[in-house]
Amino acid sequence: MGALDVVAVRKQFPALEEGAAHFDGPGGSQTPQMVADAVASTMVSAVANRGPLTAAGRRAEEIVVASREAMADLLGTQADGIVFGRSMTQLTYDFARTLAKTWSEGDEVVVTRLDHDANVRPWVQAAEAAGATIKWLCFDTETTELDDIAPLLTDRTRLVAVTGASNLLGTRPDAQRIADQVHDAGALIYVDGVHLTAHAPIDASYADFYVCSPYKFFGPHLGALTASPGLLATLTPDKLLPSTNVVPERFEYGTLPYEQLAGTTAAVDFLAGLGGTGSTRRERLVSSLHLVEQYEDSLREDLESRLAAMPTVKLYGHAAHRTPTLLFTVDGHTPAAVAEHLARAGVNAPAGSFYAHEPAHHLGLGSAGGVRAGLAPYTDQSDVDRLVAAVGDLDGSAEH
Ligand SMILES: Cc1ncc(COP(=O)(O)O)c(C=O)c1O
Repeated sequence: MGALDVVAVRKQFPALEEGAAHFDGPGGSQTPQMVADAVASTMVSAVANRGPLTAAGRRAEEIVVASREAMADLLGTQADGIVFGRSMTQLTYDFARTLAKTWSEGDEVVVTRLDHDANVRPWVQAAEAAGATIKWLCFDTETTELDDIAPLLTDRTRLVAVTGASNLLGTRPDAQRIADQVHDAGALIYVDGVHLTAHAPIDASYADFYVCSPYKFFGPHLGALTASPGLLATLTPDKLLPSTNVVPERFEYGTLPYEQLAGTTAAVDFLAGLGGTGSTRRERLVSSLHLVEQYEDSLREDLESRLAAMPTVKLYGHAAHRTPTLLFTVDGHTPAAVAEHLARAGVNAPAGSFYAHEPAHHLGLGSAGGVRAGLAPYTDQSDVDRLVAAVGDLDGSAEH
């Protein structure tokens, strides 16, 4: 098996020419030239509302079809079960409202203390409106592993919302195993794959709903959800009278952003081209994302061990299975002050709780959170060295 060619990867990102070391990928990745080109060329091509009569209408249709196929290849699911939306947050609010139409008093919905608020609050608010009960699944603050869900599942459980990976701590719960338990209880599982999708090969077919955001994996600002077309056909979202009732379109409000869909297809092609092999795009995606995972893991181990060796640095994520996203604090400095110091050193690693409201509070960090350093396929050893040196200045141990 090959290895990720980070020099070749970096050449594809014009933004890196500004010179900063980007550890801010978990908030939104930088954009490769080919994605920007796809967006721009769509905007200057003839595009109209989708339809067979004109080249412009056919182009719009082709863009939509291609983007659903691309997302299905990325997620290992079906193209006609891909729903696009403005963002993961918007899609989750829409699906929470739609699913809650079938909930009643005494029904139960499980959310976790590990999740980003976008996979918590929409469910809490929808459950409240329907009279359903919310149950909380906690995580261990030392190991940062999610607790066992079994004690929370009953014959009244309707839905479990759980993350594929925590955007604060990197923890990757065994979502496939949780899905089996949830299905045995007769409930549905909604998985937030926003943080995970950039970092590992995904087969989302185990989940009833899996949602992600292309801007976290080198694409445009958009959200995408996958579910089986059969399940989607059982749901009745609020919709305009003249808009189609066909699945998946009936979940998509207004005119789709064609240029961003073209950019999403390009982002999937970019991922498939990261050195993986195979005769289909799906195979190349799985293979390339294995290379990404290996590369990011080894860089993460280096970064983590060097930060861990600094006496004033505290690292928070310790799960056995996690993404290359580190959360840390430095004694005697607020996270905001650390992030400012890093920024001055040309290191983009922001501070905060990153909308991971429940986990940050469960850890006792509050809204100040910590400093988050997320790796991406364009992160190289010199970026890591720069981050370590800049943190070392504050620690006083100055490893460099
Ligand atoms: C884990 C996770 N879930 C959900 C979201 C929200 O995604 P969006 O901006 O597409 O609404 C984010 C964004 O940072 C995230 O990291």
